[in-house]
Amino acid sequence: MNTPIIPKITLVGAGPGDPELLTIKAWKALQQADVVLYDALVSEEVLDLARPGAILVDVGKRASKHTHPQEDINWMLVEYAINHGHVVRLKGGDPFVFGRGYEEMAHAAMFGIKVDIVPGLSSCIAVPGLQGVPVTCRGVNESFWVVTGTTRSGTISKDIELAAQSTATTIILMGMRKLGDIMAIFAAQGKKDTPAMVVQNGSTAAEKVVLGRVHNLAERVALADASSPGIIVVGDVVALHPEFASASLGDRVLSESQKTGKVTHEHITV
Ligand SMILES: C[S@@+](CC[C@H](N)C(=O)[O-])C[C@H]1O[C@@H](n2cnc3c(N)ncnc32)[C@H](O)[C@@H]1O
Repeated sequence: MNTPIIPKITLVGAGPGDPELLTIKAWKALQQADVVLYDALVSEEVLDLARPGAILVDVGKRASKHTHPQEDINWMLVEYAINHGHVVRLKGGDPFVFGRGYEEMAHAAMFGIKVDIVPGLSSCIAVPGLQGVPVTCRGVNESFWVVTGTTRSGTISKDIELAAQSTATTIILMGMRKLGDIMAIFAAQGKKDTPAMVVQNGSTAAEKVVLGRVHNLAERVALADASSPGIIVVGDVVALHPEFASASLGDRVLSESQKTGKVTHEHITV
């Protein structure tokens, strides 16, 4: 007699890319999966950890190329669970940070399918952190905002303007295509000299970092290559990056305190 199929979904955050940044729970879920539905930002190395024999389904979405609309993914999740059992829905970073995880969970719930959640390391904290840039630092800032650069209507979120008025670290996801416009919003709030950086493909072998200030970041990134997904960080904490000072050597202004060896970001122009 065949064992009955018990539909189950585990919504798993895969972290920023490096497989060693998966949680043990994420790894265990992959080892038990009958099906893995994964996104574009999930690396090959992470997929290699899936149970041999598991069905791997690429439902990756990219800004310009929606291979599967969200609606289809919701249905695929339910159908695979009913027909195969345990579906791991593997998403980059954390499933609940701009990950549409809640929509998928709510859809599965309509069919009475149990959904377990395995949080992941979100790129918004982990990617700057891996650069040695803390999203908060005592004495430097008191909060951080995580904002999308791409709203449903295609316009820039008003929250970016609000964040630019604060002293918070601002972390912008999905903003690479509008980097110039986003930097203009910060400049308009008197922040043209605020340290800023872009990290693309953070935590992977293809990682790229561009350091600068609000007024020159877009130009520096354009010279580098703006095509891969990246995170934008704006705020004084960026000056804590170990290479920030040398990245700014181009037109560095030395002050008395710097001549004595005490270099602080306020004295460096990029
Ligand atoms: C749809 S959002 C998903 C965010 C994800 N749920 C998270 O918590 O990191 C995709 C965006 O996250 C950012 N992102 C994700 N992984 C990244 C990485 N390894 N390096 C840089 N940015 C990353 C980029 O801004 C990308 O466009």
